[in-house]
Amino acid sequence: MPATRPGARGAVVSGWGTALPEKVITNDELAATMDTSDEWIVARTGIRERRIGGSTVGLAVEAGRQAIEMAGLDPARIDGVVLATTSPDEQWGNAALVQNELGMRCGAFDVNAACSGFMYALITAHGMIAMGADRVLVIGAETLSRITDWDDRGTAPLFADGAGALVLESCEGPGQLLAWELDADGSALSILRSDVGGPIKMEGKEVFRRAVRIMVDSAQKSMRHAGVTADDIALIVPHQANIRIIDAACERLGIERERAAVVLDRTGNTSSASIPLALADALDHGRVKNGDLVLLVGFGGGMTAGSCILRWGGGLDA
Ligand code: UT7
Repeated sequence: MPATRPGARGAVVSGWGTALPEKVITNDELAATMDTSDEWIVARTGIRERRIGGSTVGLAVEAGRQAIEMAGLDPARIDGVVLATTSPDEQWGNAALVQNELGMRCGAFDVNAACSGFMYALITAHGMIAMGADRVLVIGAETLSRITDWDDRGTAPLFADGAGALVLESCEGPGQLLAWELDADGSALSILRSDVGGPIKMEGKEVFRRAVRIMVDSAQKSMRHAGVTADDIALIVPHQANIRIIDAACERLGIERERAAVVLDRTGNTSSASIPLALADALDHGRVKNGDLVLLVGFGGGMTAGSCILRWGGGLDA
C-alpha cells in the first residue's frame, strides 16, 4: 500500500479545533451507579473522567468553526466537508448539516469506519486535494454516550463524546502526507459491534489483543512506505482507547511513551474524535514544530485500522 505518489498535489493542516461537552462524569460518579471503582478504571484503562452530552452535529460544528477561524478562511471558500462518525444524529446528511450551519456551499459527506474513521476521512481529504480541491474540512465527532449501555461495566467506563477538526489546504510542493495505510478485516466484526441504534457490544480482551497487533502493523507499514524509522518520529498520535494499548503499541514500535499524545485520561474513548482531539492537544501545547514527523494511528470496529506519516508544515519551510 501507498507512499504518496511523487508529483501528487500536496496539502497541509492550516487550522484545528476541538469540542467537548461541559458535563464531566468522573470514575467515582460511575462507581456510584455500577459495580466498578476509580482504582479499577484508572489501572485497567488510564481513564479518570469523560465528557458526556450535546449532539454529534453540534460538537462537529463547534470544532469545525474553530478550525476554520484558525485557518483564517471564509467558510464559503471551503471545497468539501468529510465528517467521520459512528454515532450520527441522522442516518445520513450529518456532514451536510455541519456544512449548512457553518455557511459553506460544497460537497459534504459522512464516513463511518468506527474508531478508525478519522484516519479514513483524513486520507480521503488528501485524495480530494490531490484531485483538485483547495480546502477541505475534516472532522471526527461522536456522541457515543447515546449508544452506550450504562448498565454494562465492560463498556460504560470507556466511551464518551467529543469532536476534533482539521482544515487541510493545498500547498506548493509535496505537502505533508508522506505515506498512509488503511486496513479492514470483516471476519472480526463480531468482537466489537453495534446493531443500528446501539448499544456497543464488545469482547474487551479480544479487542485489546488484536488492537495492539493491528496498530503496530499499520504504523510499521506507514513508516516503511515513508522510508522512515521509529527514531525519526517526533510524535505518535494513537487512537485513545486504553493507556495499556498505547503503552504496548509504543513499546513494540520502539517509540518512548513521552513521544505519544495522550488525552484519554480526560476524554475517555471518543472513537473517531480521539485522534484529532489528541493531535490538537499536542499542537496547542507546542509539541510539534515544522519539519517534525507525526505518526497518526488508529484501530476500531470492523475491525478497521489506519495510519499515516505527516511531515508537519509540508517540509517547505522546515
Ligand atoms: O475503540 C476501540 C474499542 N475498545 C477497546 O479498545 C477496548 C479494548 N479492551 C480493553 O480496553 C480492556 O479489555 C477492558 C478495559 C475493556 C477490560 O480490561 P481487562 O483488563 O481486559 O479486564 P477483563 O475484561 O479481563 O476483566 C478482568 C476482571 C474481571 O473479573 P474476574 O473475572 O477476574 O473476577 C471482570 O469481571 O475485571 C472485571 N471487570 C471490572 N471490574 C471493575 C470488568 N470490568 C470491570 C469494571 N470495574 N468496569
